[in-house]
Amino acid sequence: MSGKILAVDDDPLNLKLVVATLGKEGFEVLTASNGKEGYLKAQEFQPDLVILDVMMPEMDGYQVCSSLRKNPKTANLPVMMLTSLSSVEQKIKGFDAGADDYLAKPFAPDELIAHVKALMRRKISEGEVEVKANGKIISVFSLRGGVGVSTLASNLASGLASLWGESTVLVDLALAAGQSALMFNLPYRRSWGNLGRLPIEHIEPLLINEVLLQHSSGVRILASSPQPEQNEYLTGDKVTHVLRLLSQQYPYIVLDLSHDFHEVTLAGLDASHEIILLLSPDLAGVRAAVCALTVFENLKYPKEIIRLVENWIFPKGGLTRSDIEKALGRAIDLQIPYASEQIVKAINMGSPPVYSDPQSPLGALFEDFAFLLSKETHKKTKPQSPTPAWVRVVRRFQQRQAKKP
Ligand SMILES: Nc1ncnc2c1ncn2[C@@H]1O[C@H](COP(=O)(O)OP(=O)(O)O)[C@@H](O)[C@H]1O
Ligand SMILES: [Mg+2]
Repeated sequence: MSGKILAVDDDPLNLKLVVATLGKEGFEVLTASNGKEGYLKAQEFQPDLVILDVMMPEMDGYQVCSSLRKNPKTANLPVMMLTSLSSVEQKIKGFDAGADDYLAKPFAPDELIAHVKALMRRKISEGEVEVKANGKIISVFSLRGGVGVSTLASNLASGLASLWGESTVLVDLALAAGQSALMFNLPYRRSWGNLGRLPIEHIEPLLINEVLLQHSSGVRILASSPQPEQNEYLTGDKVTHVLRLLSQQYPYIVLDLSHDFHEVTLAGLDASHEIILLLSPDLAGVRAAVCALTVFENLKYPKEIIRLVENWIFPKGGLTRSDIEKALGRAIDLQIPYASEQIVKAINMGSPPVYSDPQSPLGALFEDFAFLLSKETHKKTKPQSPTPAWVRVVRRFQQRQAKKP
């Protein structure tokens, strides 16, 4: 861990001890030998943390702490009181003055390190709250397996990346048998398995970025581990945390969800701005969709965030569109035609049709759908330098408009 720490103490030996202990951990440690100097240095150097002795000439630790709190520049600066006065009253007095933590002297070096790191982490995670989470999270879901969730999720992620020319994250939460990396022909070098075991406060943006697999389409994949037992430690809380961090960094995050309502799936659904419910046009497909819609309703998901997509995973004999819409009580937003040859080839080659063949009817269908799901702010204005995908989508839209009577 790195960071700038200001240690304030009138006892030179104690100061030396703090500098040596924290210096070894990689922190930059500035010092001040009395309260007044400490207060001034805190204003001047803007450290990430201040360690204050209590009993000092000129200004004692309590006075320094309350003065720091009164100045807007240092009002939120984490402060740790370090003192030999360890009675309860003294501690309360320290907290009243605005201290965040308290450590009694003499302290063990490891104890000091642990307290400092905890305070720094808290500062980092509080700082993150101020970073705007701008990313749009889109889930692809079906309670029934094998209806094309992974196919649609990978094409959407790739379509969004090429439309807006920015990296898009595909998050594989189909933990029992996730195929996202395979859909892009990438080796499973890193996965959820690397994150799931860590305590939540250790899962930091830099680490998440290291775990993402990168594809030339601009898609970055948070893969599910090919060894399912590696994914076992992943909890709903961790998924929520990771999605929050990703949405601070990336404009779009697409989730390939598992066919269930386990806590990890629910964490993904809860975080989503839009949910694509996929169904096959047969009785089992419609049943699964009805069941999912009922759960969504009970979970109070707004109706507007759910989109229905019908996928023809078989060539013929399916239910009609109007029958399905009647059974579900809502309109189908998109129909994906039967395209076994192209889709199977895409999976075997590890290259989604929207990427390898965007001009084909299927590639165009996915590209247009990716545009439809884009943020309103994106859709409203022409980009400064439009991507080829954007140009294609707009051209097709104009062609459709021209054909309308
Ligand atoms: N429109 C389609 N036409 C023909 N086959 C399809 C279509 N969509 C998906 N499939 C096939 O269905 C199978 C399951 O797709 P997949 O995306 O892995 O589903 P899921 O993630 O829901 O289990 C794949 O083998 C794929 O080839
Ligand atoms: Mg799948």
